[in-house]
Amino acid sequence: MKPGMARCGVESNLILASVLTLFLLASSPSAIIQQKRPLLIAHRGASGYAPEHTLASYRLAIQMGADFVEQDLQVTRDGVLVCMHDPELARTTNAGEVFPGRTSIRDPDGEGKGKPGWYAVDFTLDEIKKLDAGSWFNRANPFAAKPEYAGARIATLQEVISDVKDRAGLYIEIKHYEFYKSLGLDVIEKLVSLLDSNGFKQAGRRDRIFIQSFSKASLVKMREAARQYARVQLLPMEDRGRREETLNITPALAKEIAGYAQGAGPAKQMIKSAADLETFHAAGLIVHPYTFRGPTTAVSRKPLGETQAGGSTVRQIILDDIGRYLRFGVDGGFTDYPDLWVEAVNTSARMTKK
Ligand code: G3P
Ligand code: CA
Repeated sequence: MKPGMARCGVESNLILASVLTLFLLASSPSAIIQQKRPLLIAHRGASGYAPEHTLASYRLAIQMGADFVEQDLQVTRDGVLVCMHDPELARTTNAGEVFPGRTSIRDPDGEGKGKPGWYAVDFTLDEIKKLDAGSWFNRANPFAAKPEYAGARIATLQEVISDVKDRAGLYIEIKHYEFYKSLGLDVIEKLVSLLDSNGFKQAGRRDRIFIQSFSKASLVKMREAARQYARVQLLPMEDRGRREETLNITPALAKEIAGYAQGAGPAKQMIKSAADLETFHAAGLIVHPYTFRGPTTAVSRKPLGETQAGGSTVRQIILDDIGRYLRFGVDGGFTDYPDLWVEAVNTSARMTKK
């Protein structure tokens, strides 16, 4: 080989390496790691105070200081991404009243046995928009009820993007990917197309998006489709045969997740000490545990002032719990009560200064 040809080969390798580096930098979500922390992620919006996943819930969360608002995704019959936790409409809407006789039997969790219900995927967006997604909250939680929640509508992801604008980031969960795929609805394709068309692909805006899932397979697909959006593996994994082993935090698990994601979102009970967090951090992962809401759940709320068996109020239990995990060093967390997260962070900052 002539010397000139060898130099030419080296130069083209260097050019290739530079182009590759630029591509990786341009497509990497690494800026997200530099963000303010601990990040306040409003779980289904301010869902302790307003009907989950409604615009009212997201708006209240932002008013309370949320850095990110969380969306769970479901898909309508005509292929529109809507923000709802359950694939079935009965818990949070009046689908049974509006559409009697429209039930079907479906198995979105792949459990091998279908259940009857009003599944979002059996209704067009026009039909879904007829439903009241707020009155259930007022009935279930009279102590937090507000007249304006009655008649709230299920929001599409596009409506949420347009409403939130740049006031908060979006922390989007891919749910039931295989179920929808089997019906010819590709959630990842739809999600990437929507995010890209709303300008989130640009370098300055991609760090407003986190994509989360209990399904490793979905996150790996998401990385192939759009690696510019940061990915968080929720734990324990729901992939077949992985649940039991991914209930324990080990260096091997952290290393595996770091191979395709930027963060881990464990059930908070999985983190027993700062050492568990360090296991994730040592692998380069950020950690956002879920869900800070004390003795309440989405289907069983309590007034914050109510005293519990140990003598503390619900409010104090939530504050103490958030404080404990802040001391462990979490990078953020999901909470139904964003105002209490802010209060716990401020208390923790005051105590650190002393
Ligand atoms: O996404 C974190 C947390 O929301 C996971 O639980 O069931 O509320 O979606 P879930
Ligand atoms: Ca979720």
